[in-house]
Amino acid sequence: MNIYTTITEVRQAVADARATGRGPIGFVPTMGALHAGHGRLVETAAARCGFVVVSVFVNPTQFGPGEDFAAYPRTLVEDAARCEAAGAAAIFAPSVAEIYPQPGLAQVHIQALGETLCGASRPGHFTGVCTVVGKLFNIVGPDQAFFGAKDFQQAAIIRRMAADLNFPVEIVVCPTVREPDGLAMSSRNRYLTPPQRAAAPALFRSLQAAATAIRERRPAANDVRAAIQAQLADELPEGDVDYIELVDPHDLRNVQTTDRPVLIALAVRLGKARLIDNIVVD
Ligand code: PAF
Repeated sequence: MNIYTTITEVRQAVADARATGRGPIGFVPTMGALHAGHGRLVETAAARCGFVVVSVFVNPTQFGPGEDFAAYPRTLVEDAARCEAAGAAAIFAPSVAEIYPQPGLAQVHIQALGETLCGASRPGHFTGVCTVVGKLFNIVGPDQAFFGAKDFQQAAIIRRMAADLNFPVEIVVCPTVREPDGLAMSSRNRYLTPPQRAAAPALFRSLQAAATAIRERRPAANDVRAAIQAQLADELPEGDVDYIELVDPHDLRNVQTTDRPVLIALAVRLGKARLIDNIVVD
């Protein structure tokens, strides 16, 4: 497995792979600090594609002022070992200057889908995500790109961006990978202190309880939200709830009733970490 740091090199590697019949080209965009969830994305990509590129790039434009851009863990040596074990053929790990040689005047801004949930509390975040993912799609030129369902809103936005802007890439969304106690794997879990880490599975427990209530009783969305809030206040008192929302899984618009498929999504600040999770109830 090779590690490329320039656009020219990774484009050449992909062109060589195509020319020698090693496609389709799979792509897993990441910000590094990889965990087993990323490993699963790479494995899925390797099972479907002949040549898999993983990008490792902590993208400054998707972090807001006061967010953890500087502190975000950079662990390229360990990331490379994980990628190789999972079947990646190449890592693309560019510098910020390689991706943004000058201030970008052109950006990809997605309306509506990008303004709710995480977009409401992180203004500009999804413009940064879409812009860098669009650039990476143009650099790598993949046939298939793989995203995790933990970032449900991100996956929905990327899928819509690819459709609206005619990127010739299939967006594949893979299930959230969880720790044995239910906590969704995240690079930011490493910010948690041991007591915070022990308490954090309350997030997924509250989502599971809400899903059970919806399947059994179809309560109003407001009641589901209130029940999750109460459970978190009880089981995770240190947590500072950013949002708890029930939305349509397709357009991410708020729903009032639970008699059709619903996505329950939440974000909670716990110590230095901002944790997100979700569940879809069909
Ligand atoms: O999900 C992430 O790690 C990032 O948002 C992504 C898609 C790699 C873009 O920087």
